[in-house]
Amino acid sequence: MKTLEEKYNQFEQKLKEAEQGGGAIRIQKQHEAGKQTARERIVEFLDSGTFNEFDRFVTHRSNEFGMDKTKTLGDGVITGYGKIDGRLVYIFAFDFTVFGGTLSRANADKIIKVQQLALKMGAPLIGLNDSGGARIQEGVESLAGYADIFYNNVRSSGVIPQISCIMGPCAGGAVYSPALTDFIIMVKETSYMFVTGPDVIKAVTHEDVTKEELGGALTHNSKSGVAHFVADNDEQAAMLVRELIGFLPSNNMEEAPIVPTTDNIHREDEILQTLVPVDPNKPYDIVELIENVVDDKNFLEVQPHYAKNIVIGFGRLAGQSVGIVANQPMFLAGVLDIDSSIKAARFVRFCDAFNIPLITFVDVPGFLPGLTQETNGVIKHGAKLLYAFSEATVPKITLITRKAYGGAYCVMSSKHIGADVNFAYPTAEIAVMGAEGAVNIIFRNNLSNDEERKTKIDEYSETLANPYKAAELGYIDEVIYPKQTRYKLIQALEMTRNKSQQLPHRKHGNIVL
Ligand code: HXC
Repeated sequence: MKTLEEKYNQFEQKLKEAEQGGGAIRIQKQHEAGKQTARERIVEFLDSGTFNEFDRFVTHRSNEFGMDKTKTLGDGVITGYGKIDGRLVYIFAFDFTVFGGTLSRANADKIIKVQQLALKMGAPLIGLNDSGGARIQEGVESLAGYADIFYNNVRSSGVIPQISCIMGPCAGGAVYSPALTDFIIMVKETSYMFVTGPDVIKAVTHEDVTKEELGGALTHNSKSGVAHFVADNDEQAAMLVRELIGFLPSNNMEEAPIVPTTDNIHREDEILQTLVPVDPNKPYDIVELIENVVDDKNFLEVQPHYAKNIVIGFGRLAGQSVGIVANQPMFLAGVLDIDSSIKAARFVRFCDAFNIPLITFVDVPGFLPGLTQETNGVIKHGAKLLYAFSEATVPKITLITRKAYGGAYCVMSSKHIGADVNFAYPTAEIAVMGAEGAVNIIFRNNLSNDEERKTKIDEYSETLANPYKAAELGYIDEVIYPKQTRYKLIQALEMTRNKSQQLPHRKHGNIVL
């Protein structure tokens, strides 16, 4: 029989062995590739000393192809729980040093265990991906593991926040677990995501493409819209996730944490009085307005490189998290198109699922005209945003800064689709279209010279392209000075705090996918 000391020694030996993962040489390779190891990453993501690891001694259960001689304690993923700013989170990190972080049945079971715990306990789940995909030696067992993970991703959607970091390869069907989560952060140069890689593409379509072009961090952050944030390195990815978690509740039954601020709720900034140019064709930066209004000018923009004609992100007002959606006049004049509608719609649904009030800033000339937009389905994609805003039952506060034209007026959280408080600046123009376009249509055959045209444009602006017609009808609750924005929004937010609205009972709606 072993002595007590021998038993403790054996235990210590096993702990050390598990720490080593795939061994010193592979750890060195990982570092040389500019990547941290799974364990180093977890330390970076979580509050110091809070990580508790599960299943450290799990090994894979495959015995074919000599696999019985290659068992590593913990196998290719490290899982457990810890804290971010004192709040519980669950985490899993693929360990690339063990079979390239590939998914064995045992690894899948480890991940599923933390998925199920996160769902039961109501805490966010963070996944750090760095994996060669399905473990080829395990065949369908690995595929089954993936499918089980996907299933749990979907079961958790809208119940707990799920965040994915891509910190190495993520290819094949493996991309679908991150895709099912709420936010994807990709690390520049070391990460990529694609369903089929450059070699398969070459064989099938004869296209020559690099991994970076096909699925690198910049591609997915600026072109495909698959990812939400780009990080320069592993450390920055950790900082981003920690910041993001701070804006979110732990689950759909809670409110986001209140973060006390010294920023005066009455703060008025004269700069805002002149930020929106009176000339409707002149651009201005809506992010400047947002940053001026939120607590401590702290705005976490989501998908800042994609569909830049709409801005989405998180800020706080009097300490309370809010989701912000804003047309951006700096890009395509802030028009709504396919990409911006999809981008904003998904964000609105996230905020609604997690009790985060929505603040919408409107300066929109309409939907983008064109053959490409129409044939690619701007009707169904634009409807996504309309659906998302209409469906949302969280407090909805809208401010029209300048243009609110046509269908886009209705879509951008108008009173008619359930906004609770609707503000407008005196510079607002709420109408079917801008004055010039309107005059060109209404008086197409009756204008003899430029002078007459100008008079009609002025008449139209005076009569219809202003906030007062909508205010007369009660569609705008209050016309406000721009410098009052912060306090007005804070008061409206406070007024709507106990909002309670139920949707009709149904299995689920049929959002226009
Ligand atoms: C088993 C694998 C593996 C895999 C890598 N390894 N991929 N083992 N199954 N899928 C092992 C390697 O043998 C190696 O082991 C170690 O992981 C590191 O791999 P390297 O090739 O040395 O690393 P690197 O040069 O950085 O290249 C990484 C890589 C490459 C790009 C991921 O390994 C690769 O292309 N692997 C194949 C990827 C793939 O086709 N996966 C299946 C995709 S389909 P040693 O012992 O030498 O360290 C899929 C379907 C999912 O995933 C479906 C879900 C529904």
